[in-house]
Amino acid sequence: MSNSTTIDSRQFRAALGSFTTGVTVVTTRSVAGEDVGLTANSFNSVSLDPPMVLWSLDRRSSTAAAFMAAEHFAVHILAADQEQVSNQFAARGVDRFAGLAVERGHGDVPLIAGCSARFECRTSYRHDGGDHVIFVGEVVAFDSFGRAPLVFHGGNYGLLMKKKAQDVEDTRSSFGDEWLGFLLGRAYYQMLMPLRAEVQRQGLDDIHYRILSALSTGEGRSVTELSRLVEFSGHRVVDEHFATLAERELIVVDGEQVRFTEAGRRYAIELMAAGKSAEADAAGELDFNEARLLKLLLKRVIRATGQGLPEHWRKENIWRDNNVWGAAGGATEGSST
Ligand SMILES: Cc1cc2nc3c(=O)[nH]c(=O)nc-3n(C[C@H](O)[C@H](O)[C@H](O)COP(=O)(O)O)c2cc1C
Repeated sequence: MSNSTTIDSRQFRAALGSFTTGVTVVTTRSVAGEDVGLTANSFNSVSLDPPMVLWSLDRRSSTAAAFMAAEHFAVHILAADQEQVSNQFAARGVDRFAGLAVERGHGDVPLIAGCSARFECRTSYRHDGGDHVIFVGEVVAFDSFGRAPLVFHGGNYGLLMKKKAQDVEDTRSSFGDEWLGFLLGRAYYQMLMPLRAEVQRQGLDDIHYRILSALSTGEGRSVTELSRLVEFSGHRVVDEHFATLAERELIVVDGEQVRFTEAGRRYAIELMAAGKSAEADAAGELDFNEARLLKLLLKRVIRATGQGLPEHWRKENIWRDNNVWGAAGGATEGSST
């Protein structure tokens, strides 16, 4: 449907929001010597030779006078972890530079750190752009830091997931590829294969690993408590499992109480390290940002499916001060049980 005769400004804005952009912070120094800046996603490249970029500024902006008079400005392309910086430079009535280390660039313009790329510009042109002014700047210096970018789409921040050739829809896709449960299960199974092999070399099973793992989150747990923690993952625990671990002198069962032997504690630490290394291998195909994206999505699945689950999955309920990780060097991440 064409909207060319009457333009509803709300709908127009929403339609523009379907264009996905990065987020920048544009800074300058006012004639009075004040640092000025704002968040802008109207940035774009213009010319390679000479190197030029553009962005547009709302004429009503509190920063308009400073930018209209400025000979120089700097454009910072924000990194994925700079959402807070974006919000700070879009907020009114705050010190937008608060808490940020500022360096000085051409024309004494404030430069902020931690971004993905940075362009220092000399103002070449100011064009009329309706209720905005279009600034075209010649790039006099730039830095590229290679950090993953912050993304903006439809009024929301996003994270970038780059497609790889192997991600292209494949008609030879295997059984279950469209089923989330299958993919989650297969990824988990494959990820833990090296760990499982290590446990089996010791003549132990998954379930023994899970008992050791549950005990490593805090010693002095009872047989009942450990069984409950492990059974929650679908494994049935029987006395024999504890007996095997005790025979191997990895744990001591004292009535209802279970604790590690020194060898058991060492073995648990080794297993956790092997688990971390399996995780690092599994994430080998993902960069830092993609791993973060995957974790966020998995947390959404966990939230969506978690109604009525026992509270012991909450870190503060399972984690105790005398956990093995403290002994292993103060790690704070929980292990899966
Ligand atoms: C993601 C995002 C992109 C923005 N892009 C622009 C822009 O391109 N140009 C602009 O003038 N304002 C833009 N703004 C609004 C300004 O950052 C700022 O919030 C607004 O100008 C109000 O403050 P001011 O009166 O001090 O300018 C954007 C805000 C956000 C959150």
